[in-house]
Amino acid sequence: MSRKKSVTVRVPAKVNVQLAVGAARPDGFHDLANVFLAVSLYDEVTVTAAETLTVTCAGPDADQVPLDRTNLAARAAEILAARNGRSDAVHIHIAKNIPVAGGMAGGSADGAGALLACDALWGLDTPRAQLLEICAELGSDVPFSLVGGAALGTGRGEFLTPVEAGTFHWVFAVADGGLSTPAVFREFDRLAEGRSIPAPEASPALLAALASGDPASLAATLANDLQPAALSLRPQLAATLEAGTSAGALATLVSGSGPTTAFLVRDEESALKVAAALEASGTCRTTRTASGPAPGATVLGATVLGA
Ligand code: C5P
Repeated sequence: MSRKKSVTVRVPAKVNVQLAVGAARPDGFHDLANVFLAVSLYDEVTVTAAETLTVTCAGPDADQVPLDRTNLAARAAEILAARNGRSDAVHIHIAKNIPVAGGMAGGSADGAGALLACDALWGLDTPRAQLLEICAELGSDVPFSLVGGAALGTGRGEFLTPVEAGTFHWVFAVADGGLSTPAVFREFDRLAEGRSIPAPEASPALLAALASGDPASLAATLANDLQPAALSLRPQLAATLEAGTSAGALATLVSGSGPTTAFLVRDEESALKVAAALEASGTCRTTRTASGPAPGATVLGATVLGA
C-alpha cells in the first residue's frame, strides 16, 4: 500500500479593532492603519500529496468557496512550488468555519494555512521572512493570518508590528451573502469624494485600551472607516448593530469590509446572551462567539495515511 503524508494547519479569523483608511493610492490600494486581532474561530487546511492540484471544502458555507485556482489556498501552493522549482500537485482540503466573504479574512486564512501546510509537507523549511513575502503577494490580510495575535498593519496592511493585547470576548453576527472587499473600498472612495482624507494613523487610546484588557476602554475606542461604506451597500446591517446594542453589547462594529458584524462583550457569559438575542432578533443568519487574541497559523500535526 502506498503511504501518503498529510499535514493539517489551523488558522484564525480576524476582526479589525481599528481600521483607519487613507486616500486611494496610484496602484488602487489604500494605505491603512489596521489594528488586527485574531479570534478563536478557525479554518483547518489539510494538504496531501496528489496527482494534480485540487481543492475541496466542507462546512456550513462550503458551497460559496471557489474550488479552482482563484482560491488563495491553491495560489499559495502554486507560488511556493514555483519558487522552489517543484510540482504543486497537492490535494487541499479546507474545513471551513470562518464566514465566507464576511470581512473576517477567511480566504486569507486559507492562503496562509495552505502555505504553511505545503511548506511542512514538502519539507522546505522556508524562512519566516520569505513566507511573509509570499503571504503579502497573496493578499493584504494574509501576512496577519500567518502571524495571528494582535498587530498593527501599515502599508496596505501587510507590514506588521505586534501589539500588546489582553483577552477580549466577541459575538459575530453572520449576514446572508458576502460583500466584495474591492466594492466596499470603491464605495469608501465614492463617499470620500471632495473630502481631504488624512493619512491613517493608529489611535494611541485604542492601543492602550487593547493592552489594558479592559473591555469598556476598548469599546470606547473601536473604529472602522469602512463601516459607512459597508452600511451604504448593505443598509440592513444597521438593524443587526442595533439588535446587538439592545442585547447589551459594549460596542458594535462592522468587521473589516463586512458584512459580518462584531459585538464586543464583557465576558463569555455575556457573549452567549448577546448571541441568543441576536439570533432571536431575526436580523442575521447565525452567530459565532469567540475570544482573542488567538494564535496565528499553527501546524496541528502530520499523519501518514495507508501505512
Ligand atoms: O489585498 P487584497 O487582494 O486582499 O485586496 C482586495 C482588494 O481590496 C484590492 O484589490 C483593493 O480593491 C482593496 N484593498 C484596498 N486597500 C487595501 C487592501 C485592499 O483598496 N489596503
